Amino acid sequence: MKLTDYVTLGRSGLRVSPVCLGTMTFGTAWGWGADEGAARAMFDAYVDGGGNFVDTADIYTGGQSEELVGKFVADRQLRDRVVLATKFTFNTEKGNPNAGGNGRKHVRRAVEASLRRLGTDYLDLYWLHCWDMVTPVDELVRTVDDLVRAGLVRHVGFSDVPAWYAARAQTIAELRGLEPVVALQLEYSLVERGIERELVPASQELGMAITPWSPLAGGFLAGKYPADGGGDGRLAKHRGSGNPAFDRMTARNYEILDVAIAVAREVDRPVAQVALAWLLGRPGVTSTIVGARSVEQLAQNLGALELTLSAAQRTRLDDVSRIIPGHPYTFFTDAAQNMMYGSARVTRWRPA
Ligand SMILES: NC(=O)c1ccc[n+]([C@@H]2O[C@H](COP(=O)([O-])OP(=O)(O)OC[C@H]3O[C@@H](n4cnc5c(N)ncnc54)[C@H](OP(=O)(O)O)[C@@H]3O)[C@@H](O)[C@H]2O)c1
Repeated sequence: MKLTDYVTLGRSGLRVSPVCLGTMTFGTAWGWGADEGAARAMFDAYVDGGGNFVDTADIYTGGQSEELVGKFVADRQLRDRVVLATKFTFNTEKGNPNAGGNGRKHVRRAVEASLRRLGTDYLDLYWLHCWDMVTPVDELVRTVDDLVRAGLVRHVGFSDVPAWYAARAQTIAELRGLEPVVALQLEYSLVERGIERELVPASQELGMAITPWSPLAGGFLAGKYPADGGGDGRLAKHRGSGNPAFDRMTARNYEILDVAIAVAREVDRPVAQVALAWLLGRPGVTSTIVGARSVEQLAQNLGALELTLSAAQRTRLDDVSRIIPGHPYTFFTDAAQNMMYGSARVTRWRPA
């Protein structure tokens, strides 16, 4: 696979690279990440390799990420070529509840601010960043449809939402002829497979592409954090913080990492590439959002596009990272389904 093996984003006509450039590391306002020079080098390497899909958010590095992306796109005159995606939801003004969330008032204000920072008059993809637990889904579906009608946004996606919320939005949009949700952006990696229970099947049924975030669990799957402490990187800075985005050093995760390291030795590749290659081949995964702090890390990660794991290697990785299904998912297995099919073999039709 190459960056130029473009794929349509869910049930849409938008063509994107199979790896998207994550830019949460663009800017140093959060105490980690890349300065302007390093960020520009990553952007240039990605687009020069044929990559066309760039992900940012209004919240990243307090707006620096959007500003840098806008500048790099403008300097290279790539606005028409790049699929530019950003997000709304997180609060940008302390004490003002309508300066965050997914209500109409904030979304309209957020889109204007993002367009300004990005230096453009439209977004190719506008993500709801996170479910706010209060905005009615029909208000949201109408609000983002209005943005598309107004020419400010081309397509709409949801990040970090429950499956029922995405399914309800998609159904309302379909029945009312409003703008559909074309993609779901969700955490997915060898150490975080929770979305396989509900969100992956929903995405396949409803025509929504999965674009995984933190595919290396914030760097843990690069294998640079010894179990007994230390290591150089984002997670070391926040070790023991209690924040689930940074607390990856669990016994279970090291067990998974050990198998990934064994596979990496067999194929003579960095373990980060093994973790990414596993993810690129998972059902529903359309474009994986990679993160990097330097052009060297990015180059190494893009190397995963050319790595094919054997079926036996994939099975070992699947097995060690398997999640407990829990109720009611234990019923959705071959053994339980046989009780319904009378042991006859039945396969569900899926579009090619
Ligand atoms: N929707 C959401 O809620 C959400 C949440 C998070 C991220 N995202 C998106 O997903 C993108 C990727 O997320 P992420 O940055 O967490 O991805 P990730 O791939 O899990 O972690 C990337 C970090 O791992 C380390 N790393 C990456 N490649 C490496 C390599 N080859 N060798 C050694 N270390 C390496 C670097 O950090 P250090 O060098 O500092 O260790 C890098 O910044 C973001 O940029 C953003 O666009 C979305």
